[in-house]
Amino acid sequence: MELPVFLRGKKTIQRPVNKETDFELLWQGVNDPAVIHFTMGYLPRTKEQQEEWINKIGKDDKDVHFAVEAVEAGAKRTLIGIMGIHRINWVDRNAHTGAMIVRKDYWGKGYGTDAKMCLIEYAFNTLNLHKLCSNVFDFNKRSLNYSLKCGYKKEGLRRQQAFVNGSYCDIIELGLLREDWEPALAKYRESDDVDSY
Ligand SMILES: CC(C)(COP(=O)(O)OP(=O)(O)OC[C@H]1O[C@@H](n2cnc3c(N)ncnc32)[C@H](O)[C@@H]1OP(=O)(O)O)[C@@H](O)C(=O)NCCC(=O)NCCS
Repeated sequence: MELPVFLRGKKTIQRPVNKETDFELLWQGVNDPAVIHFTMGYLPRTKEQQEEWINKIGKDDKDVHFAVEAVEAGAKRTLIGIMGIHRINWVDRNAHTGAMIVRKDYWGKGYGTDAKMCLIEYAFNTLNLHKLCSNVFDFNKRSLNYSLKCGYKKEGLRRQQAFVNGSYCDIIELGLLREDWEPALAKYRESDDVDSY
């Protein structure tokens, strides 16, 4: 069965999470220390916990989850991770964005930026959100760089807020308004980073 395409970028698509095809990779990812080292996760997740999490997707209007697929030569689609809009506040119209590309061999190749641009467009132009936020560990240069590339601005620094791999690190608080994102999107659309947007 061909899985649906909900958001389409230059080199990624996003679609609803599909338990049958996505469970294994996502479960491996949330238990991979090299991945969760960059996220706020630090406890092992059992199969039962992961099932509970995946079964809850789509049942809460404060969270939107997408499975992210890389689209490669010959239109080959490969599941690489997950991205989402979380803690949506429908009054203030703000939310947090999150991403986890669990396929480490796909890091640093522009897939995150491409998918994030689509996610932001959906957040602003479909959900009519006003502001997006994201928190990044100071050592997570990939996440910081791709967020800045999408237009996020540094708004705050929580000093020594998290303990990761034996030492404290700062958490950088990022925020994105439509006016920050639009020039970043225009620049991205003009870039020659393959295909059409
Ligand atoms: C964060 C994440 C979603 C970014 O996606 P990605 O596809 O790797 O990011 P991109 O390739 O689109 O962009 C990464 C940027 O960082 C740069 N970069 C890549 N590796 C880097 C490194 N080791 N140090 C510094 N910068 C680096 C890239 O050059 C690129 O910037 P540029 O486009 O201006 O050149 C992905 O790496 C990921 O899921 N990591 C693990 C989990 C995680 O960190 N989640 C986010 C928690 S806040």
